[in-house]
Amino acid sequence: MPGSLARFRACFERSPRTVVLFVVIVIALYVGIRDIAGDAIIETLDSHYPANEPLRDILRTARNYHRHPVEPPYKDKFWEVGQRSRNLSRWLAELNGPWGSQLRGFEKERLGTAIETTATSLFPFLSPPPPKQGSKTPLRDLQRSFTKDSRGIVIPAGGSDLQIRFAGHLIASLREVFGCSLPIQIAYAGDSDLPKERRDALLSFDKTNNTEFLDVWTVFDDATLRLRRKGWAIKAFAALASRFEHVIVLDADAVFLQSPEVLFQQRAYVENGAYLFHDRLLWQHSFEDRHEWWKDQIKEPSPAMNKSLVWTEDYAEECDSGVVVLDKSRTEIFVGLLHIAWQNTWAVRDEVSYKITYGDKETWWLGLELAGSKYEFEEHYGSIVGWEKEGSPDDKAVCSFVIAHTDEKDKLLWYNGSLLKNKLVDPNGYEVPLYWMMDGKWEKGGKKDMSCMVGETRRRLTGEEISILQHSIEAALRVDEVIASMKES
Ligand SMILES: *[C@@H]1O[C@H](CO)[C@@H](O)[C@H](O)[C@H]1NC(C)=O
Ligand SMILES: *[C@@H]1O[C@H](CO)[C@@H](O)[C@H](O)[C@H]1NC(C)=O
Ligand SMILES: *[C@@H]1O[C@H](CO)[C@@H](O)[C@H](O)[C@H]1NC(C)=O
Ligand SMILES: *[C@@H]1O[C@H](CO)[C@@H](O)[C@H](O)[C@H]1NC(C)=O
Repeated sequence: MPGSLARFRACFERSPRTVVLFVVIVIALYVGIRDIAGDAIIETLDSHYPANEPLRDILRTARNYHRHPVEPPYKDKFWEVGQRSRNLSRWLAELNGPWGSQLRGFEKERLGTAIETTATSLFPFLSPPPPKQGSKTPLRDLQRSFTKDSRGIVIPAGGSDLQIRFAGHLIASLREVFGCSLPIQIAYAGDSDLPKERRDALLSFDKTNNTEFLDVWTVFDDATLRLRRKGWAIKAFAALASRFEHVIVLDADAVFLQSPEVLFQQRAYVENGAYLFHDRLLWQHSFEDRHEWWKDQIKEPSPAMNKSLVWTEDYAEECDSGVVVLDKSRTEIFVGLLHIAWQNTWAVRDEVSYKITYGDKETWWLGLELAGSKYEFEEHYGSIVGWEKEGSPDDKAVCSFVIAHTDEKDKLLWYNGSLLKNKLVDPNGYEVPLYWMMDGKWEKGGKKDMSCMVGETRRRLTGEEISILQHSIEAALRVDEVIASMKES
């Protein structure tokens, strides 16, 4: 190697222009051959086996996709990625269904190639990082990495001290207050995102020793993801990379009032395999660009869109993605999640997703909608848990910094924003909320002032709910003590 390097250098010094020209030609040839080779794989079947018309049609379509990849600008390509995803999902279902089982071996192989080619050209992030590079079947590899019939929780917890602390609170509460036995995967992006001593600390908060770690960078190449510290973008990739088939993705600051296990029992989840929560009903008619873009890209709304007040009445915020529940064993949900992840890749989020809407939150339903997957939201838009209005207790308002969500029987299930009364202002100000309200009207506060809900019945939390939150705060305080002692040593 050093010898040839020296020879190359000598060459370069003698006639630099010739060498540069040579390199350019080699690169051009390589790119040309690679594209032709990709087409050729698909073309062979087209010419040799004309008998199977539906298969030929698929191969022709896959070749077209390969020849005309989706390119930036991405703003007006969401629908197109959705259309291709629908086909990908159909082909996968056909390959694994009765029609696919009747294909001859080589036909199956060709169909498999068409599927993989389509998947990797549509979702380049599927190409694995260096140690696993070279696989010709990254889509199938990913699906095969899921543990059959498994259920579990994924919590992205890299980045800031606060994130790790909240993840600790959440784990302690799930295990010690609810006795929840679902396995937990803590997701992060590389060692610097969540160093070893922090991983060890998180492990110690799970008294049942049923927590494991998921470094998303070992599954996906960061070249297209560009996950940064504290980024929301990791969530979709964590959901996709998780070994759990039935996966609950949680923000670390989620607070539960019932065990998350009930999520899997909600009718909406059982029927659809995708269950989402709503944001607050706010800012009607104030984000015209956003709505125009949605209408332009969704084109043919599913029945699920019909129930959306964001779609039908121009409210601004649809989804609170603090809790997302997906069944990746359903092909169309799995492919929908690929669309969601695509929206969270660096190039797409930087140009569109995080510019037109806020963070990852709207990418979830939009991906499922565009990929033609079924999904369902909780029935109500965001509720609130909190306290009476400061200074005017007679107002019958409920005020706080959080959004609350209910189960299908309208019983409180979870809320966002941690057990602290105001996580932005007082890092030690734990307080159990007393009241809650649903379907009222929001009076939005600023960053430092509470938002309130008014106009509907103000309800008290039940004794059981208050006791759950008290015990969760006690568990959180124990976690805080461990973290404090770690800092001292
Ligand atoms: C989907 O694939 C079929 C072949 O299976 C093809 O006929 C159709 O044109 C494709 N649709 C789109 C939108 O690409
Ligand atoms: C926790 O479980 C892992 C394997 O699941 C095992 O290797 C480890 O020793 C266990 N730790 C404790 C403290 O039980
Ligand atoms: C949506 O609702 C409207 C009015 O209720 C109805 O006419 C329309 O058919 C519905 N569309 C879908 C896709 O369900
Ligand atoms: C709860 O979620 C809403 C909507 O995403 C957000 O505006 C609010 O800041 C969150 N609350 C906290 C305390 O994080």
